Amino acid sequence: MTEPFLLTAPQAAPRLAARHPADRRAELHAQPIAYQGSKRRLASAILPLIPGGIRTWYEPFVGSGALALAVAHQGAAQKFTLGDSLFPLVQLWQAIVDAPDALAQTYAQLWHAQQPDPTALFLKVRAEFNLDQDPGKLLYLLARCVKNAVRFNRAGAFNQAPDRRRLGTRPELMRSRLTSAHQALAGRVAIHACDYEVLLQQVTPEDLAYLDPPYVGVSGKVNQRYQQGLDLPRFIAALSLANERQIRYLVSLDGRTGSRSYGQPLPASLGLVHLELAAGRSSQATLLGRNEETFESLYVSPALHHSLLQQGRWPLPASAADTG
Ligand SMILES: C[S@@+](CC[C@H](N)C(=O)[O-])C[C@H]1O[C@@H](n2cnc3c(N)ncnc32)[C@H](O)[C@@H]1O
Repeated sequence: MTEPFLLTAPQAAPRLAARHPADRRAELHAQPIAYQGSKRRLASAILPLIPGGIRTWYEPFVGSGALALAVAHQGAAQKFTLGDSLFPLVQLWQAIVDAPDALAQTYAQLWHAQQPDPTALFLKVRAEFNLDQDPGKLLYLLARCVKNAVRFNRAGAFNQAPDRRRLGTRPELMRSRLTSAHQALAGRVAIHACDYEVLLQQVTPEDLAYLDPPYVGVSGKVNQRYQQGLDLPRFIAALSLANERQIRYLVSLDGRTGSRSYGQPLPASLGLVHLELAAGRSSQATLLGRNEETFESLYVSPALHHSLLQQGRWPLPASAADTG
């Protein structure tokens, strides 16, 4: 590892600046699934860390798949293996790949049926989804619910409330995004409802795994954001095994707002390179009158770091790294 990047303290870690996708093309290529914790705004900062010649892009905590889609649009991997432990979300991904037109139609019907009483329709669709698990209904519920955050009660029923201030992505834009995601992945993707370890064990040294688990720092013991929280010791053991197998991977995990860290850094024994992604101003801090930037941690595995060095892609170009 090169000297400047061996820093372990989060405050001293090199920072990467995201280029915010403001143009229309980026809008159309954005992921169709609205999802709290999406890496959409950080994808442009992570892409320079992906070496050429990736055989399969593994994303075992796929969520809305912001990175997988960015990688697919960039042509940076030949094939994709995506997974998530949230079964209905995986069914939604399968529908994007198999039947995007039907999905776009269901979404448009629900979206237009919202008037005159969007809340009543949301509650009706939510009740129906809890019975039939229809992917189109989940797409609509995620677009319309508070913070686009999946929440389930103990009985496994989706129980997030509607966001009363907005109606969700317009149907025409949703259709474009569904079509774009379908075209990017169809014929070269496998999608699984499973625990991340199942997929991580399949990764070979020709592949790359991007791991974006639920945040430890904000989740505590019980993670309400996602169906299940992260068992950190088990995750660290899985990364250690991946290192033994020379697997190239990236991990997004926790970070800090101003000088307040959330979550512990991953242990130095894993030999990871710790970077920080500038994720913008914290809205909560702004509300409290503090002007603080949020940084998300990104860890580069030893095998990936080695690959980037070999390909002359490390240190990162000055345009990507903001070490100020
Ligand atoms: C932070 S989100 C991923 C966000 C994603 N990168 C995106 O851009 O939308 C974490 C995801 O991990 C899933 N998850 C939680 N525990 C899991 C596990 N043990 N195995 C696989 N997926 C899991 C959650 O359902 C959630 O979709």
